[in-house]
Amino acid sequence: MNENALDLGLELDWFARVLESRIKSCFDEDCVTLPRIPPPDLGESDSCYARFIRHYDLQPGERLVLLLALIPHVRPQLLDALWRTNAETGRGFTQFGGLRGTAHGGLIPTGETAAFILAGDDLAARFQVTQMFEGDHIFALHAILQLSPATAGEPLLSGALTLSREYISWLTTATVRKPNFNSEFPARLITTGLEWEELVLPRTTLEQLEEIGHWILYGDRLMRDWGMEGRLQPGCTCLFHGPPGTGKTLSAGLLGKQCGCDVYRIDLSMIVSKYIGETEKNLARIFDMAEHKRWILFFDEADALFGKRTRVDDAHDRYANQEISFLLQRIEEFNGVAILASNMKANIDEAFNRRLQAVIHFPMPGPDERLRIWKGAFPQKAILEERIDLGQIAEKHELAGGTIMNVVRHASLKALSRNSETILLEDMEEGIRREFRKAGRTV
Ligand SMILES: Nc1ncnc2c1ncn2[C@@H]1O[C@H](COP(=O)(O)OP(=O)(O)OP(=O)(O)O)[C@@H](O)[C@H]1O
Ligand SMILES: [Mg+2]
Repeated sequence: MNENALDLGLELDWFARVLESRIKSCFDEDCVTLPRIPPPDLGESDSCYARFIRHYDLQPGERLVLLLALIPHVRPQLLDALWRTNAETGRGFTQFGGLRGTAHGGLIPTGETAAFILAGDDLAARFQVTQMFEGDHIFALHAILQLSPATAGEPLLSGALTLSREYISWLTTATVRKPNFNSEFPARLITTGLEWEELVLPRTTLEQLEEIGHWILYGDRLMRDWGMEGRLQPGCTCLFHGPPGTGKTLSAGLLGKQCGCDVYRIDLSMIVSKYIGETEKNLARIFDMAEHKRWILFFDEADALFGKRTRVDDAHDRYANQEISFLLQRIEEFNGVAILASNMKANIDEAFNRRLQAVIHFPMPGPDERLRIWKGAFPQKAILEERIDLGQIAEKHELAGGTIMNVVRHASLKALSRNSETILLEDMEEGIRREFRKAGRTV
């Protein structure tokens, strides 16, 4: 964090000198050419800021715009020089741009401010600045910085320069901000206390999960160092399918834990909207936020969203299809990891299946696997009554891991309520019966 402060300090001093000379060139008739003021050499600095500049190979002009957007957050007084009043008009100088905030005392820079600092009256240079706010510039592509929409009928550059909150944290405190759960980002962080070794799955399933891990760890190098950008799809989308309680959510959590990235479970009920076009917008927002974040997006009960495309019978269906087409396309462009979880593979749209990098089946565990799950399932403090034969229970009852955990929970709470540490066979049997009843089956 200190390294970052040091580098940012140098950059801000550089910015201040550029600003000063630009203002001077504006008012001082003798000063017609702007001296070239070279940016500080951040050389091999390992600060987040320096790495960011190197990673995107940002040019001095882009660096100045980035700094300009950052200044209200870190050194707002630096822009006070732009508050001057034009004696002829009695207002601020038009060419300085900038907005007055409500609670913020300083100037809020706009696209016009950026154009002034970088281009002055030079039209060709001004057009170059405008390009920085186009959709194909890295600022927009990576959701780093944008101009807020201008008021209707007003020039584009009158929009405020806004840096995404994630990048403000990243470029200043060097921390990756965890987004709050809200309607803008209806997702929750999934974590797990379990370890990879405790996950009981067939070898093929584990191998497929490992491959996703490899993508998370080495995908970036494959794309950049090995030059596969543009030849491979940028991200990784997979489907986890299988009966309830077979470890889909757990596996997503473990993947994140192993690769050091956050896993967000998207709350679909907050996304799927009955209003035409809204679902699309909600999803787009999430994908935009997740881009370039090393996040895993986990869409639970994905069939609600990704189910079969409906036949085009009425107007509403036609919109539903549009939403799905949009989604297919957005997923293809997404450069992170998206996991769709479903209980029924058949429900996922064909066109969707083709776009998936991995389709991973989570089968019901067999007797041996069930025994391993049972063995790892009880609290350390618990003592199993001697009559309990886990091998026999595992053999007899076809239960998924999630259900086994429910039984363990039931029997453990019973023990605690008796003020005992001993798990009783009858409590386990009762727990198992309850689970079967829940599922509409008999033991
Ligand atoms: N294969 C497994 N190995 C070890 N533990 C498991 C396994 N599957 C499930 N469990 C246990 O059951 C709990 C619930 O499983 P999980 O939530 O991952 O199931 P799921 O497949 O996501 O189910 P659903 O389809 O209902 O969302 C896990 O937290 C874990 O304790
Ligand atoms: Mg789940």
